[in-house]
Amino acid sequence: MRIWAVIPAAGIGLRYRSEIPKQYLSLCGMPVVLHSIDRLLEIKEIEEIFVVLSPEDTFWQNLDYVHPKLKTTLGGSERSQSVSLALKELSCKAHEEDWVLVHDAVRPCVSQSDLQKLIETIRNDDTGGLLAYPLSDTIKEVDDTLFVRKTISREELWSAMTPQMFKYGLLRKAYEETVLAGLSVTDEAGAIESLGLRPKIVQGEKANIKITHAEDMALAESIIKARMGK
Ligand code: C5P
Repeated sequence: MRIWAVIPAAGIGLRYRSEIPKQYLSLCGMPVVLHSIDRLLEIKEIEEIFVVLSPEDTFWQNLDYVHPKLKTTLGGSERSQSVSLALKELSCKAHEEDWVLVHDAVRPCVSQSDLQKLIETIRNDDTGGLLAYPLSDTIKEVDDTLFVRKTISREELWSAMTPQMFKYGLLRKAYEETVLAGLSVTDEAGAIESLGLRPKIVQGEKANIKITHAEDMALAESIIKARMGK
């Protein structure tokens, strides 16, 4: 089994409102993106990790982070474009049947046990799957004036996380077809679903949070410190 990893890190963090993109903010003394990279470097089945950077990125070079398994490539204006471009870059190395594991740079708290659980569960699957967490909040659908239209049953709702792991050939085809169909997808599973296929859910830990807003940094810091036994 060969696994290639892609870390989309080309976002500019519009929602975070910071001068520094959130993947470069310091978390327990180290940039967020390096936590995510280190978690994946601990997985020996991963051949190489492609970090996808914005063409305007001025931060990566200053990190001076080098590892034989680490490569960089340039992304686009949407996450889906960034991942698609990395998949194209991989075409001279990856075989159709290889696996691709895509993990957002801004999920630095993913645990080794979740990564192993995802790989072990998905490796015998034909399509692939993703870490996700069952929703516990009551979910409201609202209109654009913020009045509730209805309550949605949370019984069958899960929050999608990363990593997401799919066969290389299938994922490339899925992204190509979403572009042709003019669809906008926000994760790999969404692209795969548009082919009529059904990704498998693997329950992850709630601690695998995505850094989106400023308050998420304090939570991420407490998760990492708790894990280090501090
Ligand atoms: O914006 P969002 O939080 O959904 O971004 C998820 C991940 O996708 C982040 O790690 C971000 O850097 C990355 N991204 C990207 N290219 C973009 C937009 C987001 O690689 N154009």
